[in-house]
Amino acid sequence: MTDALVTAATAARERAFAPFSGFQVGAALEAEDGTIVAGCNVESASYGLTMCAERVAIFKGVSEGKTRFVRVAVVTNAKTPTSPCGACRQLLWEFAPDADVILANLAGDVRRWRMRDLIPDGFDAGQM
Ligand code: THU
Repeated sequence: MTDALVTAATAARERAFAPFSGFQVGAALEAEDGTIVAGCNVESASYGLTMCAERVAIFKGVSEGKTRFVRVAVVTNAKTPTSPCGACRQLLWEFAPDADVILANLAGDVRRWRMRDLIPDGFDAGQM
């Protein structure tokens, strides 16, 4: 059975706006209540204003009232399933610290992490 979260990330990846890199990324988050929210990377002609799929999904979820996520899926078409960048790890740490992270590619390869292992000693509001 295919995981609905991976299916949602795969569908979001199809909507990636990535004309500059050509690298399409889809992310999906499962909120505590089971709601799934997905996002894709959105690139800017200025390059630096590009937003990653993971953060698009987080911001979508938070703006809809979901502030705690228990599972994360990221899908690309890379040979090895892609890991979130540093900026996304920071935001995932703040909104999905206890999450299971599923990294998958279109070939069906999967790598699994706990979010807390992707950002050791991460900074968050508890340290302020
Ligand atoms: N990208 C993501 O969407 N998530 C990541 O964690 C890494 C990179 C996007 C940003 C850009 O549109 C493209 O992948 C190439 O860096």
